Amino acid sequence: MYRTHNCGELRIDHVNQEITLSGWMDTSRDFGGMTFIDLRDRYGITQLVFNMDDDAKLCESARKLGREFVIRVAGKVRERSNKNPNRATGDIEIEISHLEVLNAAKTPPFTIEDNTDGGDDIRMKYRYLDLRRKKVQQNIIFRSNLAIAARKHLAEQGFIEVETPFLIKSTPEGARDFVVPSRMNPGQFYALPQSPQTFKQILMVSGLDKYFQIVKCFRDEDLRADRQPEFTQIDCEMSFVTQEEILNTFEGLTKSLFKTTLGIELADFPRMEYDEALRLYGSDKPDLRFGMQFMELNNLAQGKGFSVFDNAELVVGICAEQQAAAFSNKDIKILTEWMQRPQIGAKGLVYVKFDENGNVKSSVGKFFSEEQLKAWGDQFGAEPGDMLLILSGEAEKTRKQLSELRLEMARRMDLMKAGDFKPLWVVDFPLLEWDEDAERFHAMHHPFTSPKKEDVARMLDGDHETMKSLKADAYDLVINGAEIGGGSIRIHDRNLQSRNFDLLGFTKEEAEDQFGFLLGAFEYGAPPHGGIAFGFDRLCAVMNGQASIRDFIAFPKNNQGKDVMIDAPATIDQEQLNELNIDLQKEKID
Ligand code: AMO
Repeated sequence: MYRTHNCGELRIDHVNQEITLSGWMDTSRDFGGMTFIDLRDRYGITQLVFNMDDDAKLCESARKLGREFVIRVAGKVRERSNKNPNRATGDIEIEISHLEVLNAAKTPPFTIEDNTDGGDDIRMKYRYLDLRRKKVQQNIIFRSNLAIAARKHLAEQGFIEVETPFLIKSTPEGARDFVVPSRMNPGQFYALPQSPQTFKQILMVSGLDKYFQIVKCFRDEDLRADRQPEFTQIDCEMSFVTQEEILNTFEGLTKSLFKTTLGIELADFPRMEYDEALRLYGSDKPDLRFGMQFMELNNLAQGKGFSVFDNAELVVGICAEQQAAAFSNKDIKILTEWMQRPQIGAKGLVYVKFDENGNVKSSVGKFFSEEQLKAWGDQFGAEPGDMLLILSGEAEKTRKQLSELRLEMARRMDLMKAGDFKPLWVVDFPLLEWDEDAERFHAMHHPFTSPKKEDVARMLDGDHETMKSLKADAYDLVINGAEIGGGSIRIHDRNLQSRNFDLLGFTKEEAEDQFGFLLGAFEYGAPPHGGIAFGFDRLCAVMNGQASIRDFIAFPKNNQGKDVMIDAPATIDQEQLNELNIDLQKEKID
Protein backbone atom coordinates (compact mmCIF):
# COMPACT_ATOMS: atom_id res chain seq x y z
CA MET A 1 0.00 0.00 0.00
CA TYR A 2 1.42 3.40 -0.94
CA ARG A 3 -0.45 5.33 1.71
CA THR A 4 -2.93 4.99 4.52
CA HIS A 5 -3.44 8.76 4.70
CA ASN A 6 -2.55 11.82 2.67
CA CYS A 7 -0.10 14.54 3.70
CA GLY A 8 -2.78 17.00 4.82
CA GLU A 9 -4.88 14.65 6.89
CA LEU A 10 -3.21 13.71 10.16
CA ARG A 11 -4.23 15.46 13.39
CA ILE A 12 -3.70 15.10 17.13
CA ASP A 13 -6.38 12.35 17.19
CA HIS A 14 -4.08 10.14 15.11
CA VAL A 15 -1.27 10.14 17.72
CA ASN A 16 0.23 6.66 18.23
CA GLN A 17 -1.27 5.31 15.00
CA GLU A 18 1.03 3.48 12.59
CA ILE A 19 0.61 5.14 9.19
CA THR A 20 2.09 5.15 5.68
CA LEU A 21 2.50 8.28 3.55
CA SER A 22 3.73 8.92 0.02
CA GLY A 23 4.70 12.22 -1.56
CA TRP A 24 7.42 14.60 -2.66
CA MET A 25 10.27 15.76 -0.48
CA ASP A 26 9.67 19.46 0.03
CA THR A 27 12.41 20.64 2.38
CA SER A 28 14.71 19.03 4.91
CA ARG A 29 16.45 20.32 8.03
CA ASP A 30 19.36 18.60 9.63
CA PHE A 31 20.13 19.00 13.33
CA GLY A 32 22.95 16.49 13.92
CA GLY A 33 21.04 13.85 15.84
CA MET A 34 17.73 14.55 14.09
CA THR A 35 16.62 15.12 10.51
CA PHE A 36 13.27 16.73 9.71
CA ILE A 37 11.66 16.37 6.32
CA ASP A 38 8.54 18.06 5.02
CA LEU A 39 6.60 15.60 2.88
CA ARG A 40 4.21 17.20 0.39
CA ASP A 41 1.27 16.11 -1.73
CA ARG A 42 -1.74 18.00 -3.04
CA TYR A 43 -3.49 17.80 0.32
CA GLY A 44 -0.77 19.39 2.43
CA ILE A 45 2.54 18.93 4.17
CA THR A 46 3.45 16.57 7.01
CA GLN A 47 6.64 16.73 9.07
CA LEU A 48 8.70 13.54 9.21
CA VAL A 49 11.34 12.94 11.89
CA PHE A 50 14.37 10.68 11.57
CA ASN A 51 16.27 10.07 14.79
CA MET A 52 19.99 9.14 14.64
CA ASP A 53 19.81 7.38 18.00
CA ASP A 54 16.89 5.16 16.93
CA ASP A 55 18.18 4.14 13.51
CA ALA A 56 21.41 5.70 12.24
CA LYS A 57 21.21 4.00 8.82
CA LEU A 58 17.69 5.24 8.17
CA CYS A 59 18.70 8.72 9.23
CA GLU A 60 21.67 8.65 6.81
CA SER A 61 19.34 7.61 3.95
CA ALA A 62 17.00 10.47 4.80
CA ARG A 63 19.88 12.94 4.63
CA LYS A 64 20.72 11.77 1.12
CA LEU A 65 17.24 12.55 -0.22
CA GLY A 66 17.13 15.43 -2.70
CA ARG A 67 14.38 17.98 -3.24
CA GLU A 68 11.38 16.57 -5.12
CA PHE A 69 12.37 12.92 -4.55
CA VAL A 70 9.23 10.78 -4.49
CA ILE A 71 9.22 8.68 -1.33
CA ARG A 72 7.09 6.35 0.71
CA VAL A 73 7.47 6.33 4.49
CA ALA A 74 5.94 4.39 7.36
CA GLY A 75 6.00 5.31 11.01
CA LYS A 76 4.11 6.37 14.09
CA VAL A 77 2.23 9.66 14.59
CA ARG A 78 3.39 11.61 17.61
CA GLU A 79 2.52 14.97 19.14
CA ARG A 80 4.93 17.76 18.29
CA SER A 81 6.60 19.60 21.13
CA ASN A 82 7.05 22.63 18.89
CA LYS A 83 3.63 23.01 17.23
CA ASN A 84 3.10 24.94 13.96
CA PRO A 85 -0.27 26.73 14.13
CA ASN A 86 0.01 27.79 10.46
CA ARG A 87 -0.22 24.25 9.18
CA ALA A 88 -3.25 21.94 9.38
CA THR A 89 -0.98 19.04 10.37
CA GLY A 90 1.12 21.30 12.60
CA ASP A 91 0.23 19.52 15.87
CA ILE A 92 1.84 16.25 14.88
CA GLU A 93 4.89 14.70 13.23
CA ILE A 94 5.78 11.17 12.12
CA GLU A 95 8.53 9.13 13.73
CA ILE A 96 9.78 7.23 10.70
CA SER A 97 10.65 3.54 10.84
CA HIS A 98 10.70 2.81 7.10
CA LEU A 99 11.77 4.85 4.07
CA GLU A 100 11.60 3.88 0.42
CA VAL A 101 12.61 6.03 -2.55
CA LEU A 102 9.94 5.56 -5.22
CA ASN A 103 11.72 7.84 -7.66
CA ALA A 104 14.72 10.14 -7.58
CA ALA A 105 14.47 13.66 -9.02
CA LYS A 106 16.84 16.07 -10.68
CA THR A 107 17.22 19.39 -8.86
CA PRO A 108 14.28 21.47 -10.10
CA PRO A 109 15.15 24.61 -12.14
CA PHE A 110 13.23 26.79 -9.67
CA THR A 111 12.04 26.42 -6.10
CA ILE A 112 8.62 24.79 -5.68
CA GLU A 113 7.38 27.41 -3.23
CA ASP A 114 4.69 30.07 -3.08
CA ASN A 115 7.27 32.78 -3.73
CA THR A 116 9.30 30.89 -6.26
CA ASP A 117 12.54 32.20 -7.71
CA GLY A 118 11.49 31.02 -11.20
CA GLY A 119 10.60 33.60 -13.86
CA ASP A 120 7.58 33.26 -16.17
CA ASP A 121 9.40 31.59 -19.06
CA ILE A 122 11.08 28.87 -17.04
CA ARG A 123 7.87 28.11 -15.13
CA MET A 124 5.97 27.77 -18.41
CA LYS A 125 8.59 25.39 -19.82
CA TYR A 126 8.42 23.24 -16.68
CA ARG A 127 4.71 23.70 -16.16
CA TYR A 128 4.44 20.28 -14.45
CA LEU A 129 6.74 21.60 -11.72
CA ASP A 130 4.96 24.95 -11.52
CA LEU A 131 1.72 23.00 -11.07
CA ARG A 132 3.24 21.41 -7.96
CA ARG A 133 3.22 24.81 -6.26
CA LYS A 134 0.41 25.19 -3.77
CA LYS A 135 -0.80 28.53 -5.13
CA VAL A 136 -1.15 27.20 -8.68
CA GLN A 137 -2.71 23.91 -7.51
CA GLN A 138 -5.25 25.85 -5.48
CA ASN A 139 -6.24 27.81 -8.60
CA ILE A 140 -6.73 24.62 -10.60
CA ILE A 141 -8.73 23.06 -7.76
CA PHE A 142 -10.84 26.23 -7.53
CA ARG A 143 -11.51 25.98 -11.25
CA SER A 144 -12.65 22.40 -10.85
CA ASN A 145 -14.95 23.32 -7.95
CA LEU A 146 -16.42 26.19 -9.95
CA ALA A 147 -17.12 23.98 -12.98
CA ILE A 148 -18.80 21.37 -10.79
CA ALA A 149 -20.88 24.05 -9.02
CA ALA A 150 -21.93 25.54 -12.37
CA ARG A 151 -22.97 22.15 -13.74
CA LYS A 152 -24.91 21.35 -10.59
CA HIS A 153 -26.74 24.70 -10.50
CA LEU A 154 -27.61 24.66 -14.19
CA ALA A 155 -28.77 21.03 -14.05
CA GLU A 156 -31.01 21.93 -11.08
CA GLN A 157 -32.50 24.72 -13.19
CA GLY A 158 -33.34 22.22 -15.94
CA PHE A 159 -30.45 22.94 -18.31
CA ILE A 160 -28.99 20.11 -20.36
CA GLU A 161 -25.36 19.90 -21.43
CA VAL A 162 -24.91 19.32 -25.14
CA GLU A 163 -21.55 19.03 -26.87
CA THR A 164 -21.15 20.85 -30.17
CA PRO A 165 -18.44 20.14 -32.74
CA PHE A 166 -14.95 21.64 -32.82
CA LEU A 167 -14.35 21.07 -36.51
CA ILE A 168 -16.75 23.57 -38.02
CA LYS A 169 -17.09 26.40 -40.47
CA SER A 170 -16.03 29.89 -39.47
CA THR A 171 -18.31 31.80 -37.04
CA PRO A 172 -17.86 35.55 -37.13
CA GLU A 173 -17.34 36.61 -33.50
CA GLY A 174 -14.91 39.34 -34.39
CA ALA A 175 -11.57 37.52 -34.12
CA ARG A 176 -9.62 35.46 -36.64
CA ASP A 177 -10.27 31.73 -36.87
CA PHE A 178 -7.82 28.94 -36.24
CA VAL A 179 -8.13 26.63 -39.22
CA VAL A 180 -7.54 22.93 -39.71
CA PRO A 181 -6.84 21.47 -43.15
CA SER A 182 -9.04 18.58 -44.23
CA ARG A 183 -7.06 15.61 -45.61
CA MET A 184 -10.12 14.01 -47.15
CA ASN A 185 -11.24 17.22 -48.82
CA PRO A 186 -8.09 18.66 -50.42
CA GLY A 187 -7.85 22.43 -50.32
CA GLN A 188 -10.64 22.70 -47.76
CA PHE A 189 -10.40 23.76 -44.16
CA TYR A 190 -12.37 23.46 -40.98
CA ALA A 191 -12.38 26.37 -38.54
CA LEU A 192 -12.22 25.85 -34.79
CA PRO A 193 -15.24 27.53 -33.14
CA GLN A 194 -14.79 31.01 -31.68
CA SER A 195 -17.87 30.00 -29.72
CA PRO A 196 -20.72 27.51 -30.24
CA GLN A 197 -23.02 30.44 -31.14
CA THR A 198 -24.71 29.12 -34.26
CA PHE A 199 -24.97 25.56 -32.90
CA LYS A 200 -26.69 26.64 -29.72
CA GLN A 201 -29.18 28.63 -31.78
CA ILE A 202 -29.80 25.58 -33.97
CA LEU A 203 -30.38 23.56 -30.77
CA MET A 204 -33.14 26.03 -29.87
CA VAL A 205 -34.72 25.47 -33.30
CA SER A 206 -34.53 21.75 -32.47
CA GLY A 207 -36.52 22.35 -29.30
CA LEU A 208 -33.65 21.57 -26.87
CA ASP A 209 -34.62 24.51 -24.71
CA LYS A 210 -32.19 25.37 -21.87
CA TYR A 211 -28.82 24.29 -23.21
CA PHE A 212 -25.47 24.74 -21.56
CA GLN A 213 -21.94 23.61 -22.21
CA ILE A 214 -18.62 24.22 -20.49
CA VAL A 215 -16.70 24.48 -23.68
CA LYS A 216 -13.38 25.39 -25.25
CA CYS A 217 -13.43 28.32 -27.69
CA PHE A 218 -10.62 29.31 -30.04
CA ARG A 219 -9.77 32.84 -31.16
CA ASP A 220 -6.68 33.89 -33.04
CA GLU A 221 -6.37 37.36 -31.53
CA ASP A 222 -3.67 39.41 -29.83
CA LEU A 223 -3.07 38.08 -26.35
CA ARG A 224 -3.32 39.96 -23.08
CA ALA A 225 -3.47 39.04 -19.41
CA ASP A 226 -7.20 38.30 -19.73
CA ARG A 227 -7.10 36.64 -23.15
CA GLN A 228 -5.90 33.24 -24.29
CA PRO A 229 -6.17 31.78 -27.81
CA GLU A 230 -8.05 28.81 -26.38
CA PHE A 231 -10.27 29.61 -23.44
CA THR A 232 -13.39 28.22 -21.84
CA GLN A 233 -16.96 29.49 -21.72
CA ILE A 234 -19.97 28.49 -19.72
CA ASP A 235 -22.17 28.81 -22.79
CA CYS A 236 -25.95 28.95 -22.35
CA GLU A 237 -29.08 29.39 -24.44
CA MET A 238 -32.80 29.41 -23.64
CA SER A 239 -36.01 29.54 -25.67
CA PHE A 240 -39.17 31.62 -25.10
CA VAL A 241 -37.38 34.08 -22.85
CA THR A 242 -37.15 37.82 -22.51
CA GLN A 243 -33.95 39.69 -21.69
CA GLU A 244 -35.30 40.18 -18.17
CA GLU A 245 -35.65 36.42 -17.64
CA ILE A 246 -32.14 35.77 -18.95
CA LEU A 247 -30.59 38.40 -16.68
CA ASN A 248 -32.41 36.96 -13.66
CA THR A 249 -31.45 33.37 -14.52
CA PHE A 250 -27.74 34.15 -14.88
CA GLU A 251 -27.63 36.56 -11.99
CA GLY A 252 -28.93 33.54 -10.08
CA LEU A 253 -26.12 31.36 -11.45
CA THR A 254 -23.47 33.97 -10.55
CA LYS A 255 -24.81 34.39 -7.02
CA SER A 256 -24.95 30.65 -6.56
CA LEU A 257 -21.32 30.23 -7.73
CA PHE A 258 -20.08 32.91 -5.33
CA LYS A 259 -22.05 31.34 -2.49
CA THR A 260 -20.93 27.77 -3.15
CA THR A 261 -17.25 28.37 -3.87
CA LEU A 262 -16.43 31.50 -1.83
CA GLY A 263 -19.25 31.57 0.73
CA ILE A 264 -20.11 35.12 -0.38
CA GLU A 265 -23.71 36.39 -0.70
CA LEU A 266 -23.85 38.93 -3.51
CA ALA A 267 -26.51 41.66 -3.41
CA ASP A 268 -28.76 42.19 -6.45
CA PHE A 269 -26.78 43.39 -9.47
CA PRO A 270 -27.39 46.98 -10.56
CA ARG A 271 -28.06 47.63 -14.24
CA MET A 272 -26.49 50.40 -16.24
CA GLU A 273 -27.17 51.48 -19.79
CA TYR A 274 -24.19 51.33 -22.12
CA ASP A 275 -24.45 55.09 -22.85
CA GLU A 276 -24.52 55.88 -19.15
CA ALA A 277 -21.49 53.65 -18.47
CA LEU A 278 -19.53 55.57 -21.09
CA ARG A 279 -20.71 58.95 -19.79
CA LEU A 280 -19.98 58.21 -16.13
CA TYR A 281 -16.96 55.91 -16.39
CA GLY A 282 -15.67 56.18 -19.98
CA SER A 283 -15.88 52.39 -20.20
CA ASP A 284 -18.47 49.70 -20.92
CA LYS A 285 -16.99 47.68 -18.07
CA PRO A 286 -16.82 50.04 -15.11
CA ASP A 287 -15.19 48.96 -11.87
CA LEU A 288 -17.77 49.92 -9.23
CA ARG A 289 -15.58 49.13 -6.20
CA PHE A 290 -14.84 52.85 -6.04
CA GLY A 291 -16.49 56.12 -7.07
CA MET A 292 -14.72 58.84 -9.06
CA GLN A 293 -17.61 59.16 -11.53
CA PHE A 294 -16.91 61.51 -14.43
CA MET A 295 -18.19 65.07 -14.22
CA GLU A 296 -18.37 67.29 -17.29
CA LEU A 297 -17.06 70.81 -16.85
CA ASN A 298 -17.73 72.44 -20.25
CA ASN A 299 -20.29 74.76 -18.65
CA LEU A 300 -17.84 76.16 -16.10
CA ALA A 301 -14.44 75.74 -17.70
CA GLN A 302 -15.01 77.07 -21.23
CA GLY A 303 -15.17 80.68 -22.41
CA LYS A 304 -12.79 81.93 -19.73
CA GLY A 305 -9.79 82.40 -22.02
CA PHE A 306 -7.95 79.11 -21.42
CA SER A 307 -7.58 78.04 -25.03
CA VAL A 308 -6.87 74.34 -24.32
CA PHE A 309 -10.30 74.00 -22.74
CA ASP A 310 -12.00 76.46 -25.10
CA ASN A 311 -10.96 74.45 -28.16
CA ALA A 312 -11.93 71.08 -26.66
CA GLU A 313 -15.10 69.15 -27.47
CA LEU A 314 -15.18 67.91 -23.89
CA VAL A 315 -13.74 69.03 -20.55
CA VAL A 316 -14.23 66.25 -18.06
CA GLY A 317 -12.74 65.19 -14.75
CA ILE A 318 -12.84 63.00 -11.68
CA CYS A 319 -12.68 63.89 -8.03
CA ALA A 320 -10.17 61.83 -6.07
CA GLU A 321 -11.03 61.66 -2.41
CA GLN A 322 -9.20 60.30 0.64
CA GLN A 323 -6.49 62.93 0.97
CA ALA A 324 -5.66 62.94 -2.72
CA ALA A 325 -4.88 66.65 -2.27
CA ALA A 326 -1.79 65.46 -0.44
CA PHE A 327 -0.37 64.23 -3.76
CA SER A 328 2.92 66.12 -4.13
CA ASN A 329 3.98 68.03 -7.24
CA LYS A 330 6.29 65.11 -7.95
CA ASP A 331 3.41 62.60 -7.65
CA ILE A 332 1.37 64.67 -10.09
CA LYS A 333 4.30 64.95 -12.48
CA ILE A 334 4.69 61.16 -12.48
CA LEU A 335 0.95 60.75 -13.02
CA THR A 336 1.00 63.25 -15.89
CA GLU A 337 3.89 61.41 -17.53
CA TRP A 338 2.00 58.14 -17.08
CA MET A 339 -0.97 59.68 -18.91
CA GLN A 340 1.27 61.03 -21.67
CA ARG A 341 2.68 57.60 -22.57
CA PRO A 342 1.76 56.62 -26.15
CA GLN A 343 -0.54 53.84 -24.84
CA ILE A 344 -2.80 56.53 -23.35
CA GLY A 345 -1.80 59.62 -25.29
CA ALA A 346 -3.14 62.44 -23.08
CA LYS A 347 -1.65 65.83 -23.92
CA GLY A 348 -1.68 67.05 -20.35
CA LEU A 349 -3.41 66.75 -17.01
CA VAL A 350 -5.01 69.58 -15.05
CA TYR A 351 -5.35 69.33 -11.28
CA VAL A 352 -7.22 71.36 -8.68
CA LYS A 353 -6.44 70.60 -5.02
CA PHE A 354 -8.64 71.67 -2.14
CA ASP A 355 -6.60 71.49 1.04
CA GLU A 356 -7.89 71.12 4.62
CA ASN A 357 -7.58 74.90 5.22
CA GLY A 358 -9.84 75.85 2.34
CA ASN A 359 -6.95 76.79 0.03
CA VAL A 360 -7.16 76.00 -3.65
CA LYS A 361 -4.11 75.07 -5.69
CA SER A 362 -4.24 74.33 -9.38
CA SER A 363 -2.09 73.89 -12.47
CA VAL A 364 -4.48 76.32 -14.22
CA GLY A 365 -4.51 78.87 -11.37
CA LYS A 366 -3.25 81.51 -13.81
CA PHE A 367 -6.33 81.20 -15.99
CA PHE A 368 -9.09 80.78 -13.44
CA SER A 369 -9.88 82.68 -10.23
CA GLU A 370 -10.09 80.85 -6.91
CA GLU A 371 -13.82 81.44 -6.98
CA GLN A 372 -14.14 79.82 -10.41
CA LEU A 373 -12.11 76.83 -9.29
CA LYS A 374 -14.24 76.50 -6.15
CA ALA A 375 -17.32 76.41 -8.40
CA TRP A 376 -15.78 73.41 -10.18
CA GLY A 377 -15.29 71.77 -6.81
CA ASP A 378 -18.93 72.46 -5.93
CA GLN A 379 -20.07 70.83 -9.18
CA PHE A 380 -18.14 67.69 -8.14
CA GLY A 381 -19.26 67.94 -4.52
CA ALA A 382 -15.55 68.07 -3.56
CA GLU A 383 -14.59 68.18 0.13
CA PRO A 384 -11.43 69.60 1.70
CA GLY A 385 -8.61 67.12 1.04
CA ASP A 386 -9.96 66.15 -2.42
CA MET A 387 -8.29 66.69 -5.76
CA LEU A 388 -9.88 67.16 -9.16
CA LEU A 389 -8.08 65.67 -12.17
CA ILE A 390 -9.27 67.07 -15.48
CA LEU A 391 -8.68 66.19 -19.13
CA SER A 392 -9.93 67.84 -22.28
CA GLY A 393 -10.08 67.09 -26.00
CA GLU A 394 -12.12 65.06 -28.44
CA ALA A 395 -15.00 63.49 -26.45
CA GLU A 396 -14.58 59.76 -27.07
CA LYS A 397 -10.79 59.78 -26.78
CA THR A 398 -10.81 61.94 -23.65
CA ARG A 399 -13.33 59.67 -21.91
CA LYS A 400 -11.13 56.64 -22.64
CA GLN A 401 -8.08 58.43 -21.26
CA LEU A 402 -9.94 59.53 -18.13
CA SER A 403 -11.14 55.95 -17.64
CA GLU A 404 -7.48 54.84 -17.55
CA LEU A 405 -6.67 57.65 -15.11
CA ARG A 406 -9.58 56.64 -12.87
CA LEU A 407 -8.25 53.07 -12.69
CA GLU A 408 -4.68 54.23 -12.12
CA MET A 409 -5.80 56.52 -9.27
CA ALA A 410 -7.70 53.61 -7.73
CA ARG A 411 -4.55 51.47 -7.92
CA ARG A 412 -2.40 54.24 -6.42
CA MET A 413 -4.90 54.88 -3.66
CA ASP A 414 -5.41 51.16 -3.04
CA LEU A 415 -9.16 51.25 -3.73
CA MET A 416 -9.33 47.90 -5.55
CA LYS A 417 -9.90 45.80 -2.47
CA ALA A 418 -9.48 42.05 -2.69
CA GLY A 419 -12.60 40.23 -1.54
CA ASP A 420 -14.84 43.14 -2.57
CA PHE A 421 -17.05 42.16 -5.51
CA LYS A 422 -19.13 44.69 -7.45
CA PRO A 423 -21.04 43.00 -10.28
CA LEU A 424 -23.35 44.86 -12.66
CA TRP A 425 -25.23 44.31 -15.89
CA VAL A 426 -24.40 46.70 -18.70
CA VAL A 427 -27.47 46.77 -20.97
CA ASP A 428 -28.79 48.47 -24.12
CA PHE A 429 -25.67 48.17 -26.24
CA PRO A 430 -25.82 49.69 -29.73
CA LEU A 431 -26.64 47.07 -32.38
CA LEU A 432 -24.07 48.28 -34.91
CA GLU A 433 -20.78 50.07 -34.73
CA TRP A 434 -19.62 52.27 -37.63
CA ASP A 435 -16.02 51.66 -38.64
CA GLU A 436 -14.76 54.99 -40.01
CA ASP A 437 -11.64 53.50 -41.67
CA ALA A 438 -13.27 50.48 -43.30
CA GLU A 439 -16.44 52.51 -44.00
CA ARG A 440 -18.69 49.70 -42.87
CA PHE A 441 -20.78 48.57 -39.93
CA HIS A 442 -19.61 45.88 -37.50
CA ALA A 443 -21.93 44.01 -35.17
CA MET A 444 -21.28 45.34 -31.69
CA HIS A 445 -21.98 41.90 -30.16
CA HIS A 446 -22.35 39.48 -33.06
CA PRO A 447 -24.50 39.29 -36.22
CA PHE A 448 -27.23 37.20 -34.54
CA THR A 449 -28.12 39.80 -31.92
CA SER A 450 -31.62 41.21 -32.08
CA PRO A 451 -32.42 44.91 -32.18
CA LYS A 452 -34.77 46.09 -29.47
CA LYS A 453 -38.40 45.44 -30.47
CA GLU A 454 -39.07 49.16 -30.77
CA ASP A 455 -36.14 49.52 -33.19
CA VAL A 456 -37.09 46.70 -35.60
CA ALA A 457 -39.12 48.92 -37.95
CA ARG A 458 -36.35 51.54 -38.07
CA MET A 459 -33.81 48.81 -38.78
CA LEU A 460 -35.85 47.43 -41.68
CA ASP A 461 -36.33 50.72 -43.52
CA GLY A 462 -34.23 53.42 -41.83
CA ASP A 463 -31.40 55.34 -43.50
CA HIS A 464 -27.68 55.07 -42.79
CA GLU A 465 -27.69 57.51 -39.85
CA THR A 466 -30.66 55.71 -38.27
CA MET A 467 -28.62 52.49 -38.19
CA LYS A 468 -26.07 54.13 -35.87
CA SER A 469 -28.75 54.79 -33.27
CA LEU A 470 -30.28 51.27 -33.14
CA LYS A 471 -30.13 49.62 -29.74
CA ALA A 472 -29.81 45.88 -29.17
CA ASP A 473 -31.17 43.48 -26.60
CA ALA A 474 -27.56 42.79 -25.64
CA TYR A 475 -25.99 42.71 -22.20
CA ASP A 476 -22.67 42.16 -20.50
CA LEU A 477 -21.98 40.92 -17.00
CA VAL A 478 -19.17 43.00 -15.51
CA ILE A 479 -17.45 42.27 -12.20
CA ASN A 480 -14.78 44.58 -10.75
CA GLY A 481 -14.06 46.12 -14.14
CA ALA A 482 -13.75 42.82 -16.03
CA GLU A 483 -16.15 41.66 -18.75
CA ILE A 484 -17.14 38.28 -17.38
CA GLY A 485 -19.94 37.44 -19.76
CA GLY A 486 -21.90 38.68 -22.72
CA GLY A 487 -25.06 37.69 -24.51
CA SER A 488 -28.17 38.80 -26.28
CA ILE A 489 -31.66 38.02 -27.45
CA ARG A 490 -31.24 36.61 -30.96
CA ILE A 491 -32.91 37.41 -34.20
CA HIS A 492 -35.21 34.46 -34.96
CA ASP A 493 -36.79 35.80 -38.09
CA ARG A 494 -35.17 35.02 -41.43
CA ASN A 495 -35.93 38.41 -43.00
CA LEU A 496 -34.56 40.39 -40.10
CA GLN A 497 -31.44 38.20 -40.03
CA SER A 498 -30.97 38.77 -43.80
CA ARG A 499 -31.34 42.52 -43.28
CA ASN A 500 -28.67 42.39 -40.55
CA PHE A 501 -26.24 40.49 -42.81
CA ASP A 502 -27.03 43.11 -45.46
CA LEU A 503 -26.16 45.97 -43.12
CA LEU A 504 -22.96 44.19 -42.12
CA GLY A 505 -21.87 44.17 -45.75
CA PHE A 506 -22.51 40.52 -46.65
CA THR A 507 -23.79 40.00 -50.18
CA LYS A 508 -26.79 37.67 -50.48
CA GLU A 509 -24.45 34.96 -51.82
CA GLU A 510 -21.93 35.38 -48.98
CA ALA A 511 -24.67 35.27 -46.35
CA GLU A 512 -26.14 32.17 -47.97
CA ASP A 513 -22.74 30.53 -48.30
CA GLN A 514 -21.69 31.17 -44.68
CA PHE A 515 -24.99 30.99 -42.83
CA GLY A 516 -27.41 29.29 -45.19
CA PHE A 517 -27.84 26.50 -42.60
CA LEU A 518 -29.00 28.98 -39.93
CA LEU A 519 -31.21 31.00 -42.27
CA GLY A 520 -32.66 27.71 -43.51
CA ALA A 521 -33.32 26.53 -39.95
CA PHE A 522 -35.15 29.78 -39.22
CA GLU A 523 -37.67 28.80 -41.89
CA TYR A 524 -38.73 25.71 -39.96
CA GLY A 525 -40.19 27.24 -36.83
CA ALA A 526 -37.47 29.00 -34.83
CA PRO A 527 -38.61 29.96 -31.33
CA PRO A 528 -37.69 33.33 -29.83
CA HIS A 529 -34.47 32.65 -27.96
CA GLY A 530 -31.47 34.22 -26.29
CA GLY A 531 -28.49 33.40 -24.13
CA ILE A 532 -25.18 34.32 -22.70
CA ALA A 533 -21.63 33.02 -22.38
CA PHE A 534 -19.47 33.48 -19.32
CA GLY A 535 -15.71 33.66 -19.75
CA PHE A 536 -14.95 30.79 -17.37
CA ASP A 537 -11.21 31.50 -17.02
CA ARG A 538 -11.93 35.18 -16.33
CA LEU A 539 -14.57 34.30 -13.78
CA CYS A 540 -12.02 32.10 -11.94
CA ALA A 541 -9.43 34.90 -11.97
CA VAL A 542 -11.79 37.68 -10.87
CA MET A 543 -13.28 35.57 -8.08
CA ASN A 544 -9.72 35.18 -6.79
CA GLY A 545 -8.83 38.86 -7.19
CA GLN A 546 -6.40 38.17 -10.05
CA ALA A 547 -6.06 40.03 -13.34
CA SER A 548 -4.34 37.23 -15.27
CA ILE A 549 -6.24 34.13 -16.36
CA ARG A 550 -3.07 32.14 -17.07
CA ASP A 551 -2.68 30.63 -13.64
CA PHE A 552 -6.23 29.30 -13.74
CA ILE A 553 -5.48 27.29 -16.87
CA ALA A 554 -3.48 24.11 -16.38
CA PHE A 555 -1.55 24.45 -19.63
CA PRO A 556 -1.78 28.04 -20.90
CA LYS A 557 -0.07 29.63 -23.90
CA ASN A 558 2.46 32.43 -23.52
CA ASN A 559 2.07 35.91 -25.02
CA GLN A 560 3.29 34.67 -28.41
CA GLY A 561 0.55 32.04 -28.40
CA LYS A 562 3.10 29.28 -27.73
CA ASP A 563 3.03 26.32 -25.41
CA VAL A 564 6.73 26.23 -24.54
CA MET A 565 6.39 22.98 -22.59
CA ILE A 566 5.40 20.91 -25.63
CA ASP A 567 6.90 23.41 -28.11
CA ALA A 568 3.74 24.16 -30.06
CA PRO A 569 3.04 25.39 -32.66
CA ALA A 570 5.67 23.50 -34.60
CA THR A 571 6.45 22.60 -38.18
CA ILE A 572 5.11 19.31 -39.52
CA ASP A 573 6.96 16.93 -41.77
CA GLN A 574 6.74 16.92 -45.53
CA GLU A 575 4.79 13.66 -45.62
CA GLN A 576 2.05 15.13 -43.47
CA LEU A 577 2.01 18.27 -45.63
CA ASN A 578 1.72 16.19 -48.76
CA GLU A 579 -1.21 14.26 -47.32
CA LEU A 580 -2.91 17.54 -46.56
CA ASN A 581 -2.14 18.92 -50.00
CA ILE A 582 -0.28 21.85 -48.55
CA ASP A 583 2.65 23.13 -50.56
CA LEU A 584 4.44 25.63 -48.31
CA GLN A 585 6.75 26.68 -51.11
CA LYS A 586 3.82 27.49 -53.34
CA GLU A 587 1.96 29.32 -50.54
CA LYS A 588 4.99 31.56 -50.09
CA ILE A 589 5.39 32.39 -53.79
CA ASP A 590 1.67 33.16 -54.16
P1 AMO B 1 -18.27 36.98 -26.22
O1 AMO B 1 -17.44 37.08 -27.45
O2 AMO B 1 -18.62 38.25 -25.52
O3 AMO B 1 -19.65 36.29 -26.52
O4 AMO B 1 -17.55 36.00 -25.20
C1 AMO B 1 -18.11 35.70 -23.94
C2 AMO B 1 -17.09 35.83 -22.85
O5 AMO B 1 -15.94 35.03 -23.10
C3 AMO B 1 -14.80 35.64 -22.52
N1 AMO B 1 -13.73 35.74 -23.56
C4 AMO B 1 -12.45 35.35 -23.38
N2 AMO B 1 -11.82 34.85 -22.31
C5 AMO B 1 -10.51 34.53 -22.43
N3 AMO B 1 -9.81 34.69 -23.57
C6 AMO B 1 -10.40 35.18 -24.69
N4 AMO B 1 -9.70 35.31 -25.81
C7 AMO B 1 -11.78 35.55 -24.61
N5 AMO B 1 -12.68 36.07 -25.49
C8 AMO B 1 -13.84 36.17 -24.84
C9 AMO B 1 -15.21 36.99 -22.00
C10 AMO B 1 -16.51 37.24 -22.72
O6 AMO B 1 -17.38 38.06 -21.97
N6 AMO B 1 -21.31 33.67 -28.45
C11 AMO B 1 -21.25 34.86 -27.60
C12 AMO B 1 -22.09 34.69 -26.35
C13 AMO B 1 -23.56 34.83 -26.55
O7 AMO B 1 -24.00 35.73 -27.29
O8 AMO B 1 -24.32 34.02 -25.97
C14 AMO B 1 -19.81 35.11 -27.21
O9 AMO B 1 -18.92 34.31 -27.39
O10 AMO B 1 -15.42 36.89 -20.60
